Amino acid sequence: MSKVMITGATGLLGRALCQELSSTHEILGCGFSRAAAPLHKLDLADHSSVLDFLDNHGPEILIHAAAERRPEQCERDQAATLTLNVAATEFLAQACRERDIRFFFISTDYVFDGTSAPYVETDITNPVNFYGQTKQAAERAILADSALHTIVRVPVLYGEVKTLEESAVTFIAKQLLANPASSHDNWAIRYPTHVNDIALTLKDVIAQPSLGGIIHISGNQAFTKYEMAQVMAQALQLPTQDLVPLSQPSDDATRPQNCALKDTRLINMGIAHNRDFATAVSEVLTKHR
Ligand SMILES: NC(=O)c1ccc[n+]([C@@H]2O[C@H](COP(=O)([O-])OP(=O)(O)OC[C@H]3O[C@@H](n4cnc5c(N)ncnc54)[C@H](OP(=O)(O)O)[C@@H]3O)[C@@H](O)[C@H]2O)c1
Repeated sequence: MSKVMITGATGLLGRALCQELSSTHEILGCGFSRAAAPLHKLDLADHSSVLDFLDNHGPEILIHAAAERRPEQCERDQAATLTLNVAATEFLAQACRERDIRFFFISTDYVFDGTSAPYVETDITNPVNFYGQTKQAAERAILADSALHTIVRVPVLYGEVKTLEESAVTFIAKQLLANPASSHDNWAIRYPTHVNDIALTLKDVIAQPSLGGIIHISGNQAFTKYEMAQVMAQALQLPTQDLVPLSQPSDDATRPQNCALKDTRLINMGIAHNRDFATAVSEVLTKHR
């Protein structure tokens, strides 16, 4: 069993990765403020602790999922966002190259400006908010560091949330439960993707001997948040007729309109894990009614 280190293991995606990969790999899950045994507490801003951890535990693969991924928080605290999203990522990539650890970095569809979807892996990035800019900077540093590193771009995620606020998708359900006449963005197109599908895909990907470069993993069903609200209202047995579609963006931090990711490399490898959104989100919501 090869040892896989997962950063962000207390987060939405990291938890799914730890669970899915634990049947085939020895997992070294690392969190920060929420880390409790068997997870390790590791501050990625503390570079000497990171090196000690790598040298003491000797992972063969590192999946780096820790990040500040809330666009408004990124705008508010740009220094902390740069430290985690860029500096820590660049440092990890370098340390992995020096130790022959296969490095996978979780990035985002927000590296694109959303004006000419769908995007293939080699398309030019042009982020419209600070979060996207930090992920773009991290991607560039990683690609410059080694052709063996792999960047994994994913769109908006949902899955087994601890609270409905934890995912931008299930947050819509929280708004619905508070107000069945709530307003929802009907401008931006999103491809909500279940974290278990990302984890299953990465399990297949790391089974390949070598990869490197950029891969896209994305659900294939398009929804605006207003359309997701309709699906979730039905799952929650709430009325849909009073939901209000917003035709203009209303977020504080700018969002791209449509960043559909084409997963051309995965298709060539014959890897696909895509569950149906309505069915899967309904299962997620059963625990939060
Ligand atoms: N969620 C989405 O919709 C979405 C969409 C596109 C891309 N992504 C990308 O997917 C990845 C996973 O996202 P997610 O939603 O699972 O994130 P998340 O739930 O917000 O979790 C963030 C993780 O980062 C860890 N972290 C924060 N500061 C840290 C530090 N100083 N040192 C070490 N760890 C630290 C947190 O640990 P503690 O909580 O224990 O402090 C937590 O485990 C991220 O790279 C994100 O950019 C996410």
